[in-house]
Amino acid sequence: MRRFHIRLLFIAISVLLSPAFAFAAESSCVTCHKEAGDERLTPPVEDWQQSVHHDAGVGCHSCHGGNPAIEGMEAMTTKDYTGVPPVKTIPNLCGSCHSDPDKMRKYNLRVDEYDLFRRSGHGRALFDKGDTKVATCVSCHGAHKVLSKKDPASPVYYTNIPQTCGKCHSDAEYMKGYGLPTDQVAKYSRSYHAQILRGEIPDKNPTLAPTCASCHTHSPLLPGAVEVPEICGRCHSVTAKYFKDGPHYIALTETGVPRCVDCHGNHEILYPGIEMFSSDQDRHCGACHDASTPEYQAGQQIKSLLEEATKQVALMEKELADIEHSGRNLDDLQTLTEEARTNLTEVLPITHTLAIEKIKEKTDLVVANSSKLVQSTGEFKAELNARKRNLAIILGVIFVNIAFLYFKRRTLPH
Ligand code: HEC
Ligand code: HEC
Ligand code: HEC
Ligand code: HEC
Ligand code: HEC
Ligand code: HEC
Ligand code: HEC
Ligand code: HEC
Ligand code: HEC
Repeated sequence: MRRFHIRLLFIAISVLLSPAFAFAAESSCVTCHKEAGDERLTPPVEDWQQSVHHDAGVGCHSCHGGNPAIEGMEAMTTKDYTGVPPVKTIPNLCGSCHSDPDKMRKYNLRVDEYDLFRRSGHGRALFDKGDTKVATCVSCHGAHKVLSKKDPASPVYYTNIPQTCGKCHSDAEYMKGYGLPTDQVAKYSRSYHAQILRGEIPDKNPTLAPTCASCHTHSPLLPGAVEVPEICGRCHSVTAKYFKDGPHYIALTETGVPRCVDCHGNHEILYPGIEMFSSDQDRHCGACHDASTPEYQAGQQIKSLLEEATKQVALMEKELADIEHSGRNLDDLQTLTEEARTNLTEVLPITHTLAIEKIKEKTDLVVANSSKLVQSTGEFKAELNARKRNLAIILGVIFVNIAFLYFKRRTLPH
């Protein structure tokens, strides 16, 4: 009985000492602001009550100072009371906890947001030029209703990010004077990446598609030329590796072109096709190489290798369809076709090396499989025809015999 009481006492003390309980139940800031019924004073309480900070015991005074144990307006007269923090101080305020590994370890959160922000275009404009129109921590996360990035209601939940950036970057009036275009969200929303993000491409995982934050990291900076393959390469590692093996990468490090985005775009990245090899349209080979140059001709060679391989795969599929219901076991032929399709997919990243030999090595495999398949189906069709012919002959013989018996029977006397 006594042990039970001690345990009860122990539980009661630990509940009272737990920060969440202390702030949630006893903070004078919360009680008074909630009761104020004022459209400026009360919403912060309602928003904060839904936040991850509320649950972690980060109370009003953690950000605004003051003494939550004092009831009455005196709560807001202590020396550390800041009132509404000026915009320029917000990153430091948030960083005071979020850059501290000791405070964040328990929650398994990164601690580099402040540093990244400080170095970003946003941060440099804020700290170096005093420009308070740029994004600070609260522009993207909110001040009170701060949610986990995994919460679909969070402004930084992956599908909400374009809209969050677009609040400013799609607003031509707001962005006037910076010399930046305001079409990033519109262009991005037409891209293949955004189609995947919206779940419009079957069998593609929306959580793997890049949003604004994937390419601009936590700290939007205009990437330097050589950084672009690194950015795209975070996800397209195979393609980026081949690209780095080729002469375009050497040109990039020496002259700054061509970057991935010079051929694919940055925001409006579409599903690429073979037409990119043969036109002088923006982003296509001819935009940089005159049609008479060896570079352009190399492109034509790559293009015909790809066209040939594509044609062969289509042929294999047609041949397979032709004998689908013939009763033949198709396992071997299906394996050949599957292999050819894989080689065709694998050659596309290799085109980024611009090395004709390497590309041809792969497309030759497609052609070889196609020949094998066409030979097998040819033999099978010939055999099928021979069987049909034999069947016809046998049927013919049977018919003649029946006819013979019939006439023979008629000539016999009853
Ligand atoms: C007894 C009621 C009461 C208590 C307790 C109280 N506040 Fe206030 N608070 C107010 C009122 C009323 C205002 C508006 C004052 C004004 O407009 O001058 C206000 C204003 C504020 C503002 C906005 C200041 C500005 O410059 O616009 C902040 C931030 C704030 N309180 C935070 C706190 C914090 C943090 C605590 C607890 C440590 C707290 N309050 C405790 C009633 C209270
Ligand atoms: C994580 C830090 C943080 C916490 C916790 C927090 N605030 Fe704030 N609060 C801010 C920041 C930052 C701003 C300035 C917002 C801005 O500039 O958009 C602000 C603004 C305010 C304002 C001014 C709103 C306006 O429109 O002028 C009030 C009032 C306020 N907070 C009260 C509270 C109260 C009450 C609590 C506790 C329930 C609280 N805050 C908890 C960071 C915080
Ligand atoms: C321009 C918008 C923007 C600004 C400014 C910004 N963030 Fe973020 N933040 C994001 C986005 C988007 C994500 C989620 C992206 C991701 O998954 O990497 C995120 C994620 C986070 C996370 C979760 C990280 C984790 O480990 O999962 C924290 C914490 C955070 N931000 C804090 C901050 C702090 C502190 C500041 C200010 C110093 C800040 N953010 C400034 C957009 C922003
Ligand atoms: C007093 C310390 C403290 C301050 C100041 C603070 N935070 Fe936090 N913050 C935390 C803690 C602790 C968590 C972890 C909550 C959890 O994961 O349950 C957190 C979680 C977050 C998360 C959720 C991360 C995720 O994706 O899981 C974001 C976003 C965030 N804070 C942004 C901010 C912003 C923006 C500010 C400034 C306005 C700020 N914080 C100020 C302590 C603080
Ligand atoms: C509160 C408004 C606001 C929000 C929200 C915002 N930005 Fe910005 N951003 C700006 C302003 C203003 C500039 C111009 C700063 C300058 O060039 O001095 C800018 C500049 C940039 C730049 C160019 C930086 C450079 O190095 O010149 C990039 C890239 C960028 N933002 C990306 C983003 C992304 C990605 C998001 C969302 C995760 C975002 N921004 C959210 C206001 C915002
Ligand atoms: C697939 C990667 C990628 C995605 C996704 C992406 N960006 Fe960019 N963004 C870039 C690159 C690379 C550059 C700069 C290179 C260049 O000059 O084309 C850039 C440039 C910018 C600029 C500078 C002005 C401009 O348009 O050139 C802003 C602002 C910007 N991005 C904002 C955004 C916003 C907002 C989103 C989300 C809607 C977004 N970006 C999504 C890669 C990306
Ligand atoms: C956060 C990861 C991520 C980043 C960063 C990223 N992408 Fe993608 N991208 C994807 C995913 C996922 C797909 C769909 C892949 C698939 O079809 O299986 C895709 C598809 C594509 C496609 C269509 C062809 C294809 O294989 O589906 C192109 C072209 C492309 N991305 C180019 C780029 C370029 C250029 C950049 C850099 C400016 C970039 N991507 C940055 C994830 C990313
Ligand atoms: C944005 C400009 C740009 C685009 C678009 C572009 N290239 Fe290039 N390319 C260059 C530069 C710069 C070099 C290095 C200088 C040179 O050899 O002309 C180069 C070099 C080459 C070379 C290597 C020549 C050698 O010296 O080995 C080949 C091959 C080539 N390009 C083929 C292509 C093909 C094929 C395409 C279309 C898929 C293409 N390029 C699109 C800019 C571009
Ligand atoms: C010189 C122009 C050029 C450059 C530079 C370039 N690509 Fe491509 N890329 C192409 C062409 C052309 C195709 C289409 C081949 C086809 O499908 O016929 C393609 C196809 C792709 C594909 C789809 C096939 C695959 O590889 O999975 C992806 C993804 C891709 N590129 C990403 C990138 C990335 C990432 C970079 C930078 C590291 C890059 N590209 C640089 C021209 C280029």
